[in-house]
Amino acid sequence: MELKLAFIGMGNVGRAFARLLDARRCELAGQHGITWVVTGIATARHGCSISEEGLDLLDAVHRIESGQNINALDRGEPVSDPAEAIDRCNADILFETTPLSAADGQPAISYISRALLRRISVVTANKGPVAYGYPELRRLAAGRGVMFRFEGAVMDGCPVFNLAQFCLPGARILSFAGVLNSTTNLILTGMEDGRSMEDSLADAQRLGIVEADPVNDLDGWDAAIKALALANVLLSIDEPASLAHRTGIRELKAEDMTSALAEGDVIRLVARAQVLSGRATITVKPERVPRSSALGCVRGTSNVLIMKTDLMGEIGVIENDPGIAQTAYALLSDMIVIHDALTRSHGR
Ligand SMILES: NC(=O)c1ccc[n+]([C@@H]2O[C@H](COP(=O)([O-])OP(=O)(O)OC[C@H]3O[C@@H](n4cnc5c(N)ncnc54)[C@H](OP(=O)(O)O)[C@@H]3O)[C@@H](O)[C@H]2O)c1
Repeated sequence: MELKLAFIGMGNVGRAFARLLDARRCELAGQHGITWVVTGIATARHGCSISEEGLDLLDAVHRIESGQNINALDRGEPVSDPAEAIDRCNADILFETTPLSAADGQPAISYISRALLRRISVVTANKGPVAYGYPELRRLAAGRGVMFRFEGAVMDGCPVFNLAQFCLPGARILSFAGVLNSTTNLILTGMEDGRSMEDSLADAQRLGIVEADPVNDLDGWDAAIKALALANVLLSIDEPASLAHRTGIRELKAEDMTSALAEGDVIRLVARAQVLSGRATITVKPERVPRSSALGCVRGTSNVLIMKTDLMGEIGVIENDPGIAQTAYALLSDMIVIHDALTRSHGR
């Protein structure tokens, strides 16, 4: 089936995904029966363009990387803003990769709602809409007979949402605990090795993994928003999850690390979710955990999520040294899931 694809945001994630799509063109056609055409691309400062015949995706990537505008792409028609691009792109799938708004998930939630209302399925790598808008967006997608998918929003391409949806039929996830923020984990493991918090933060910044405002990492906001997104989806509660407590790592001292290590423990920034009185509640704080435990053994930028279930006991997933390639894969995996659903619904 030929998919019409549109993009809101063409930054690090969007461009990595564009390159992956191009590199996997033959496999997608041969193994999945997927061909694709790009009918819209919208950015904040690099212009917006739509086309019925199809835009040259890699040309758009090159133009953006060289600081040019995409309004003049071959076969493209410039449009005034992302909202108009959504309204006129006539896409099957919109890929939403705009920056996180830690306060309210906007404008991504508006973009996603707008697309779903037009019966366009949406894939996002942005955790904001899943943390702050999930119940409404899920209802909207279901009501319009389209899909809202977000595997890349937490732990990049590591299957956490897909694991729950496709691999645990009949089982319920009751609670979870995870080390979800790469920057703080790199800092904490750096401090275990004797580096200062400042030097370890500089290491993380050199790797390009720190949020634009490091406070979002250091004060636990990134971990909290990821945990809210996970809880909204995994814990099967209709009400949005709420944040009960959040402490970051800024108050930790080298002595805290050495005294934990002396007793076989380490300190990790742990996000926990449980259901209390019918509501999913999140806490994020530094915890002392055994060095050999599932939470304690992840080092550097690696992440872990441990889920307690009713029928499968405890299960966990670890993602070692994630990078942008894994996030791009998340978008690809969501695209294939949507394609397969569209193919079934069209009876092909
Ligand atoms: N980077 C990662 O490793 C990673 C991993 C997992 C998830 N994520 C999530 O993926 C999303 C994208 O991350 P990124 O690193 O690709 O960000 P980025 O490099 O900053 O790119 C953001 C893109 O969105 C566009 N944009 C910004 N504000 C917009 C608006 N109001 N309306 C329309 N477009 C807008 C920007 O346009 P201009 O180019 O014109 O500025 C740019 O193309 C974020 O939500 C992030 O949290 C990122």
